[in-house]
Amino acid sequence: MTYKNKNLDFKKLKLETQMVRGGTIRSNFGETSEAIFLNSGFAYNSAEIAESRFNGEAPGYVYSRYLNPSLKMLEDKLTLLEGAESCCVMASGMAAVFASIMCQIKAGDHFIASKVLFGSCFHIATKILPNYGIEVTLVDGTSEDAWRKAFKKNTKVVFIETPANPNLEIIDIRMVAKLCKKNSAQLIVDNIFASPYSQKSFELGADIIVYSTTKHMDGQGRTLGGCVLGSEEFIKEILLPFHRHTGPALSPFNAWIILKSLETFPLRMERHCSNAKKIAEFLEKHPKVKRVLYPTLKSHPQFEVAKKQMLNGGAMLAFEVKGGKKETFAFMNRLKIIDISNNLGDAKSLITHPATTTHSNIPRDEQEKIGITESMCRLSVGLENVEDLIDDLKQSLK
Ligand SMILES: Cc1ncc(COP(=O)(O)O)c(C=O)c1O
Repeated sequence: MTYKNKNLDFKKLKLETQMVRGGTIRSNFGETSEAIFLNSGFAYNSAEIAESRFNGEAPGYVYSRYLNPSLKMLEDKLTLLEGAESCCVMASGMAAVFASIMCQIKAGDHFIASKVLFGSCFHIATKILPNYGIEVTLVDGTSEDAWRKAFKKNTKVVFIETPANPNLEIIDIRMVAKLCKKNSAQLIVDNIFASPYSQKSFELGADIIVYSTTKHMDGQGRTLGGCVLGSEEFIKEILLPFHRHTGPALSPFNAWIILKSLETFPLRMERHCSNAKKIAEFLEKHPKVKRVLYPTLKSHPQFEVAKKQMLNGGAMLAFEVKGGKKETFAFMNRLKIIDISNNLGDAKSLITHPATTTHSNIPRDEQEKIGITESMCRLSVGLENVEDLIDDLKQSLK
């Protein structure tokens, strides 16, 4: 019983075809939907074969902490999705962020990040890296001058989120990438808020891209996962030795769920983004809303940069309601369809109060400086009918 996998060059096909077909490895049974390889180890027909797999002379799997057919299928699909050379999947977005930094930095090196960061990324930059003797500078990501001044002789790694969590601050990737090249530093872009549907960061100069697949790639709030994408040389020579021996491996079951979700990724993202745009336009006109932050609104402070580097506005937005924390909580509590949650990238629309949840580890005065106010809400726009979502916001803002 054998099934012969077809030899197609998926790189030449369009996104929708790549997401449905790319990466699939059929077993001898010829199953149409990808099988789940829920195994930790592999057996060898001889000790010689085991030896040759371990010394790299023969292809094949050795252990699921290293790689497994379910993980391989997901990595190949993600490589196609991003147009990357190579990919390594991990157990969560934070595992991917941490490994992408730690695999290439050492005591005495200098690390730069933009100031507006997701709470856990902020923790890595301000609490973990300094403990390992790494010098850290946080910059105003929107100021070219601040970026120029931040680089030092020992700058090794630069990390940015754009659009940033939670206020959708946009950083000019081309500008930062140019400075990184000049200073021989590696640029890591956390592309989670945009997703590959809204921003192609390699084309803008990123060396490495990280994702939490927990978000729009899973898209239905079921699994944790993450990935790092980069050149073949970086993934193979620098990241994999770190990843394989420290163990942030993705579960094959989670890999399979994400793999199946990616089949509908372009379709879902199209609707997520068009819903988000309509909601941003609605909120901007509402008298109870102080301001809306959405990349394609002309009122966005970095609208011109967004226009140059994003393909569309994405599925995330932030806004401030009039009043303080009390009024903001009351507004959130009145919502009937939209759920209060700290997660994002789900088919269900989710609203977050960053100051008291996802970004609560950032001191209040620092939060204020980067625009995380007590009246700011972050909205992850889902796949419900947009009129129902607007009606829900309307009744709740009354
Ligand atoms: C910008 C950003 N980076 C990283 C992460 C971490 O992803 P995960 O929760 O999958 O570890 C998140 C999660 O919300 C995020 O918003």
